[in-house]
Amino acid sequence: MKNYTSINDIDNINSWIEEAKLLKANPLKDIELGKNKTLGLLFFNSSLRTRLSTQKAALNLGMDPIVMNVSGDAWGIEFEDGTVMNGNTAEHIKEAAAVVSQYCDIIAVRAFPSLIDKEKDESEHVLKSFVKFASVPIVSMESATGHPLQGLTDAITIAENTTKKKPKVVLSWAPHVKALPHAVANSFTQAMQKMDVDFVITNPEGYNLNPEITKNTPICHHQEEAFKDADFIYTKNWSSYDDYGKKANTDPNWMITKKKIGAAKFMHCLPVRRNVIVEDTVLDSDNSLVIEQANNRTYAAQLVLKKILENV
Ligand code: CP
Repeated sequence: MKNYTSINDIDNINSWIEEAKLLKANPLKDIELGKNKTLGLLFFNSSLRTRLSTQKAALNLGMDPIVMNVSGDAWGIEFEDGTVMNGNTAEHIKEAAAVVSQYCDIIAVRAFPSLIDKEKDESEHVLKSFVKFASVPIVSMESATGHPLQGLTDAITIAENTTKKKPKVVLSWAPHVKALPHAVANSFTQAMQKMDVDFVITNPEGYNLNPEITKNTPICHHQEEAFKDADFIYTKNWSSYDDYGKKANTDPNWMITKKKIGAAKFMHCLPVRRNVIVEDTVLDSDNSLVIEQANNRTYAAQLVLKKILENV
């Protein structure tokens, strides 16, 4: 594997999950693999988990991670070709990606969508520009349309916690004060489509995800009905895809409550707004897997970096 930019880069999710479990059991077993190799982490957006877990993963492999907050600290990067750069951008991606490639053996990039220009967001112009102009492998740490490190993490967490051969997994929309990206929900959906699970998405009318992502996955507009017999309830807010990025929706009827989830395990990628997305009583209960999910971010990232290092 050269780059990891999508859940579609996973050839066999079950074998990846088994490999991740082995890394979790013995995190330093490949400490020599990344010796004298550098991982560059470039953040166009905020992060707690991705920033720390990906560095931890690199350290477990013996790599040296270096981190830059591109938006705050670097020169403004121009992504358009042929532009007269007499505005706010001072450096073109052609030079930026080539330069960083000289310092790093792998580059990881986080770049959220604008949620204004659907076509531009869906073109993944930031991530794809790095893939095009860097001379080293690229890892997505969440892009405009996907969060594949999170999706892999969530698949590992479900596999570790299921007591059934084919559990029922529900992805539920939940309210939020801001219009949020679709990336986490998209990658979770793609990961579940690769697993042997009974997978259902529930969201209000007008909030269906991109049909090219959901494909044949059932979509139910009645949350209570979708939650019936659920083993795992994965919750996330996302903005409208049809009325692109426009609608924030704070409808409290979609908030996750202890009564609604019953015995199901609760999952969320974090950060989560308490008592907006989900009640305290759910997050503070034994049913919540959110801290375990965050822990698994390290092993998902470690597996991805390992596979790339084995290939360079
Ligand atoms: N889940 C996740 O990606 O967390 P951060 O945004 O804090 O990295």
